[in-house]
Amino acid sequence: MKAVLITGASSGIGKALSYQFAAEGHNLVITARRQDELDKIKQDIESRYSVKVIVKVSDLAVDGAADRLYEKLRAFDIEAMINNAGFGDFAMPWEMDLAKAQTMVDLNVRALTTLPLHYARDYSDSEATLLNVSSIGGYTQFDVAVTYWVTKFYVASFTEGLAQSLADQSKSMRAKVLAPGPTESEFVTHSSEKGAIDGDDLFPESAFITAEQLAQYAYQLFESDQVVGIINGENHLELKEPIYPYAQVPH
Ligand SMILES: NC(=O)c1ccc[n+]([C@@H]2O[C@H](COP(=O)([O-])OP(=O)(O)OC[C@H]3O[C@@H](n4cnc5c(N)ncnc54)[C@H](OP(=O)(O)O)[C@@H]3O)[C@@H](O)[C@H]2O)c1
Repeated sequence: MKAVLITGASSGIGKALSYQFAAEGHNLVITARRQDELDKIKQDIESRYSVKVIVKVSDLAVDGAADRLYEKLRAFDIEAMINNAGFGDFAMPWEMDLAKAQTMVDLNVRALTTLPLHYARDYSDSEATLLNVSSIGGYTQFDVAVTYWVTKFYVASFTEGLAQSLADQSKSMRAKVLAPGPTESEFVTHSSEKGAIDGDDLFPESAFITAEQLAQYAYQLFESDQVVGIINGENHLELKEPIYPYAQVPH
């Protein structure tokens, strides 16, 4: 069965992406830690659209979990992989909860390296799409939350580099970066936990778009020939060529 994998599908952007891709006729494999939320989303989507939704519960910050999840995906033809699971933290670096920082790197960076590398190994010669969720913070350094933004720099740079390598080697697989700005979800709540700066003080309410609007932008990026989809200051989607500069490696 052809299906789209969506990580972090139990809330916010990942949940909205699940509805958007289902509405466009794609079967889904949805994953996160909260089985009850995933089961509700599965039931609701299958009652609305003629698609199948498979639930796989996984804590992707746990050592080896991304490898184990990928093994379960071998039962499907994964036409697109959307790595969206992630969280932030608005603490100053010297005040940050160390365990939270380590889990953030495990989820935002390590799992987001493991799943795409398995996927590229199996699908580089297929009409497959990898879509990784970075942030506008993956392209702009802010003076709070540097530990979070740098995970998103990694996502952006890694994905653009992968896109470039695939294109240079005439591979069929495509890799894309979605760089959201402030988007309504559970993100601000989790980013404000454990002594971090209250996110409500950082962004005015008017700065936010809905997760559903972002999911529509993500689908436009998915269908486009461009590599980067970045949400600009007017909350519009800008589709772009890779942004990071590349020097040709001498052969
Ligand atoms: N919202 C924004 O303003 C914004 C802006 C730029 C970028 N982003 C990025 O967008 C992505 C989605 O975030 P969101 O805004 O939708 O926030 P969210 O509502 O908090 O969603 C995060 C998702 O990740 C899952 N998740 C968290 N920890 C996990 C773990 N250890 N293992 C597996 N899944 C885990 C959560 O599910 P469970 O709790 O059920 O595991 C949830 O489904 C993140 O990568 C975030 O960095 C968000």
